[in-house]
Formats: sequence, C-alpha cells, structure tokens
Amino acid sequence: MNPFRADTPSDRTPEPATVVIFGASGDLTQRKLIPAIYNLIVERHLTRVAIVGTSRSEISDDAFRERARNGVEQHSRGTFAEDVWEHFAPGLYYQQGGFDDPEAYQALKARIEEVEKEHNLPGNRLFYLSTPPSVFATIIRRLGEAGLVDPKEEPFARVIVEKPFGKDLASAKQLNAEVHEVLKEDQVFRIDHYLGKETVQNLLVFRFANGIFEPLWNSKYVDHVQITGAETLGVEGRGGYFEKAGILRDMVQNHLFQVLSLAAMEPPVSFDANAVRSEKTKVLQALRPIDPHRVTERVVRGQYAAGSVLGADVPGYREEDGTDPKSRTETFVAMKLFVDNWRWAGVPFYLRSAKRMPKKVTEIAIHFKSAPLPLFGREQMADLGGNVLAVRIQPDEGITLGLGSKVPGQSIEIAPVTMEFRYASSFGVEAPEAYERLLLDALNGDGTLFTRGDEVEASWRFITPIHEAWETQKVEPELYEAGSWGPDDAHQLLAADGRRWRRP
Ligand code: BG6
Repeated sequence: MNPFRADTPSDRTPEPATVVIFGASGDLTQRKLIPAIYNLIVERHLTRVAIVGTSRSEISDDAFRERARNGVEQHSRGTFAEDVWEHFAPGLYYQQGGFDDPEAYQALKARIEEVEKEHNLPGNRLFYLSTPPSVFATIIRRLGEAGLVDPKEEPFARVIVEKPFGKDLASAKQLNAEVHEVLKEDQVFRIDHYLGKETVQNLLVFRFANGIFEPLWNSKYVDHVQITGAETLGVEGRGGYFEKAGILRDMVQNHLFQVLSLAAMEPPVSFDANAVRSEKTKVLQALRPIDPHRVTERVVRGQYAAGSVLGADVPGYREEDGTDPKSRTETFVAMKLFVDNWRWAGVPFYLRSAKRMPKKVTEIAIHFKSAPLPLFGREQMADLGGNVLAVRIQPDEGITLGLGSKVPGQSIEIAPVTMEFRYASSFGVEAPEAYERLLLDALNGDGTLFTRGDEVEASWRFITPIHEAWETQKVEPELYEAGSWGPDDAHQLLAADGRRWRRP
C-alpha cells in the first residue's frame, strides 16, 4: 500500500495477525512496541491482533500483561482507556525460551498456533527482533529451521530487525547473507525509527508534491546543505553500549544518512517501496569516499566533558557508568561530504550529530546561493545570512524560509525575516509515534519506510573507512563542554569554507 496517500483508518487496516516479539522483557517492548500496538487499536487501524512475547526471562502471561499495562500507562501518547485495555490484554501472551534453543522454537510454534486458534487468526505472523544484534542471525536461522518463516504470501511471515544492522561493512554484509539464507528480501523490515517520523516522510511530500522547489534543488542554486541531529541527553545509562558504538554508528550511519538520502535523492518513478529505496541507495552510493589520510580534515571527532545542560550540571562522558576513563569514543561528529552526482556536484553537505548539546534539534537546512549582484551593498547582504530553507524534524516540527525584507522607513535597510509553516498550528492534531507507523506498514507488507539490504551496505561502505582511519591513526576526540555547540574544530570545518553552522 502506498504510504503517501491520505489514509483513513479503514483503508490501512492490515489482515489479522500475530506479532511475536523477541526480547519482550526489554525496554523497547514496554516503552515503544506495546504502546504503539495499543494506539493502533485505539485509532482503529488494527482490529484483530495477538501478541506473543518471548525472551530468556521467566515471566507469566499475567506478569507480562501487567508490564504491558504499565508501559501503556506511562509511555502511550494517548490517555489510558480501561475498555480498550480490557479488549487488548487477553490477546497478550508470553513464552519463555532461549534464542539458540531449537526446542524453544518448537514450543513457541505450538504456543503461536494455540493463540491463533483461540483468537481465530489466519496464521499471518510478524516477528519483531528487539534483541541484542548478536543474536539476530541465530533467531532468523532457528525460525527458518522451525518452519516459522516460510516465504509465502498467504499467510505471511515477516521479520522486523531492530538496529544496529551490523557494526561495519563486513558485519552488515555477513548479516545480510545470513538473513537471505532464510528470508526473501521482501520479508525483511530493517527498522530505522527516523523514517517513521512524520516530518521525515514530509520531506518527500514537500519535495515532490510541490512544483516550486525541485527546480531550485540542485548545485545551480544550492550553496550548501547542513544536517543537524543534536540531543541534550548524554548516554543515559547506556555507557556500555555507547562505548563500542559511538555517535557515528549510533546516529549518523543510520538516522542522519536516511535524512540525507531523502533530501538529496532523485524523484522516484513511483512511490513503490523499491523505487523509493533505489533512489535513496543511489545517493549513498554516490557519496565521495573520504581519503583515510585526510580523515581529520573532513571529519571532526568530539567527546563531551563535564558541563551544564538545561541548567543542570552533568558529568563528562568518561565519568559515565560503563565507559572507559581513557575512552576515545565520540559523542560528537561533524563532517563535510559530497554527493558526487549530476545534481549535487560540488555542493558540500555538512552533517553534525551530538550528545549533550544546548538543545534538542533535528533539522535539515538548505542554504541557497546569494543573489548574483549585491544591489543593496555587500555588507547588508552578508548580514542577511542568505536564504535558508529549514525543515525542522523535531521538535517544533515545521518548515521555515529565511528571506531578506525591507525595514519600514525612508531608507533601504534590509533585515532577515522568516516565513513559517508549523505542523502544530496548521493541523492541530498529534502525529502518530514512529513505531506506530512502522508496525502498521510492516503488517501491511509495505517496506518503503524500511532500509533495504543494499542501502545499509552502501552507508557502511562510506562509514567504515572513517572508523578504520580513526583506529589506525589513534585519533583522539576533541573535548567540548557539555551544553556547548561542540568542539572548535567543528566550527573550523565550516569557517575554512567561509561558512558557519546555523544556530537552530
Ligand atoms: C537512537 C539512538 O537510535 O536514537 C539514541 O540509539 C538516540 O542514542 C535516539 O538518543 C534519538 O532518537 P530521537 O527519536 O529521540 O531523535
């Protein structure tokens, strides 16, 4: 189904199905997945669905339901409704099992069949791997051996794979190969929750449903592009994970590159899943590789030191639980890159992503070239900062366009003004959570907002040499104070080109 159509609840209702969650005792299940399914039921997108949670922990059905209820009460965007809960809760089950234990899969299979019989479900199954990535391949292999994911249309068997998909190019290729030994590509849904965000999807609608932007969207009119993914959070108790990941893997390889590819891609021939993903993949394939000898010139690696964020004192990264006191892991990255294709030849894309920034903001800003002749004086024109089209992904979702305008009065004085579109005031409705959108799409078999195998490999192909160069050259991160906009080198990266970062 085409996700870019105006949908009504009824025309997006998928076939009845069982959602089987691996890693069901974990945080994601309680905070995101169960509340998402609950909201899909509240909004009548899902009518008949059962959930079977599984993981290594011993949990009874009742205890699982209790956790799920807490998850909905605490994390659902809507208010808790007792009557919906009473309809929902009896469809929740839990089955204990080891991820590598063949017998556990037989028991799981029997349980799923029992649940399907009880709820009169036709055997459609969506498996959600919300586990550590080290067991993704094992689970898929065991599902295959147990005959749980045979590639047939009816009833369907699909698998959602959480992030991260690999930690470098070699591991991503290996995981793709292991996945494809069991599953066909159209059964695999590699999740990137940024693609479930309304404003990320709106990038496509904005670009391709309006005739006025596309003619300007190229190297002839665009001076450069800035993409920012800034968070005020630190590593939030995930020091052990983050220590091995770093922000280049955690945010850039996946989320920011998805935003980049949607902003830079060519118009697809249709809004079919493969047409869209092929165009996105081509952008990633066109990224000019970074010369390992020049990695420190093009990529800034930073790490937060103690400081103050939103008025509270916070420790430095190396003082966080689970991190190495001499850690070189980056919590800030800024880079300059080029998309070497016809449309973008010579246009720099500056990306930055970081923890412990002064504010949370994700945006993409298209900086247009200045007017060809500075009719009103170079100085006045320079003060304007040029025309910038900024797509704010979060928070305060919306789009702004910066223009120069005459200040009322007898002389020609020019001041920057902003034209603004804000989601909240234009639509006045709350956007669904990313996981709601993505679960519904997977149940509908629509992979448009999921990453394809070759796409993931293309992004790792660009990222892995940076990690390798950092490793072999033992590149130390430059420290920045928590609550600042990052290390000096990041500012230098743009200053060297006569530009500066936007202050969102
Ligand atoms: C996750 C990262 O994928 O995205 C986190 O692992 C990060 O480190 C989060 O905080 C950001 O997501 P959002 O939706 O809050 O921008």
